[in-house]
Amino acid sequence: MGIGILCSGGDAAGMNPAIRYFVDKCISKGEEPYFIYSGFEGMIDGKIKRATHKDVSGILYKGGTIIKSSRSKRFLEKKYREQAYEQLKKHGIEKLVVLGGNGSFKGLKVFHDEFGVKFIGIPATIDNDIYATEYCLGVDTALNVIRMSLDYIRDTASSFRRAFVIEIMGRECGYLALVSALTSGAEVCVIPELGYNLNNLRIRLEKEIKEGRDYILAIVAEGTGATNEIAEWLKNDLHMDTRITILGHIQRGGNPTVYDRLMGYEFVEHGLEALLSGKVEEGVVVFRKGEFFIESIDYVASHQYKIKDELLKLAGKLTGVYV
Ligand code: F6P
Repeated sequence: MGIGILCSGGDAAGMNPAIRYFVDKCISKGEEPYFIYSGFEGMIDGKIKRATHKDVSGILYKGGTIIKSSRSKRFLEKKYREQAYEQLKKHGIEKLVVLGGNGSFKGLKVFHDEFGVKFIGIPATIDNDIYATEYCLGVDTALNVIRMSLDYIRDTASSFRRAFVIEIMGRECGYLALVSALTSGAEVCVIPELGYNLNNLRIRLEKEIKEGRDYILAIVAEGTGATNEIAEWLKNDLHMDTRITILGHIQRGGNPTVYDRLMGYEFVEHGLEALLSGKVEEGVVVFRKGEFFIESIDYVASHQYKIKDELLKLAGKLTGVYV
C-alpha cells in the first residue's frame, strides 16, 4: 500500500531525520513510501515520487527538508483538494504522514472527512505552539541556533556598553523567546503570555547599572510586536546606546541536534505504528512526560497551547511583572 509523506508550513530541523526513518521503516514493513514534494501544493500538482533508500542516504544531518514545504492557500478550496485526492489515487496512496503545525493538521482533517484518506500528523514547528504535546520537532535546534546567536551578540554588547533588543520568532507563542532569555542570561524578556512592566524593569535595571552593569540583552517575542517600543525605552529611559537585531529565518536553519534527530525517528515510529495498525484513522503524535501518544486532530486543534506555569514563573523577574 502507498504511504505518502509531506511537510507543510514552516520547515523545522528534524524533518530530514523523520523523512529518512519514514522511508526505512516503510520499506522494512513491505509498504511503499512516497515523497509528496512542496506540501499540499505539490499534492495538488502531482509532485509525487516513489521513495527509495538512496533518496534518504546522507540527509540525516541536514537542516530544512529535502522534500520541501509550502503554505498552501489552494488547499483551502474544495476543487483543489479534489485534485489532490485524484493525484494520490493515481499513485495508490491511501495514507499520509504530515510534518507540520496546527493549520496543516486542520486542513488534513477536512481532507480526511471528505475523501477518507487516513493520516498521522507529526508536530514540527520551531514555535512549539501545538496543544497536547510538550515538544515539536525542530525546537531544540532552533533554541541552540538562538543561543549561539545571543552568545555572539553578548560579546559585542559587552564590548561597547550597549543594549540590544533581539526579536525572536514564535508567532503568538513566547516559548522560544522565554527559554532563550533564560538560557542566555538575558536581562529582559517580553513575551505575549506574561506582558511586561517597564516601570518595574526600569527600577531594577537602574539599580544594576549603578552597581556596574554596562550592557543589556532584551529578548522580545515577535508576537508581542513590542520590539521598537522596548528599544525606544532603553534609549530614552535608561539612556543606553541601543541596537535592534531581528534574528529572523536564521532561527529555522541549522543541522538538527542529536535530540531532534532522535525525536524525528521516534515521532515517525509511533505515527507509522498507529497508521499501519489500522486502528487509527486520523491523529497527531504527541509527546508528554517522556511518552508518546496519539490524540485526535479535533482535540489538538481545538485547544490552545500554554507554556507551563513553572517556566513562566522563572522568567517573571525579566518581564517586570513579578518583582
Ligand atoms: O511557524 C514558524 C515561523 O518561523 C514563525 O516563527 C514565523 O512567524 C513564521 O514561521 C515565518 O513565516 P515565513 O517563513 O512564511 O515568513
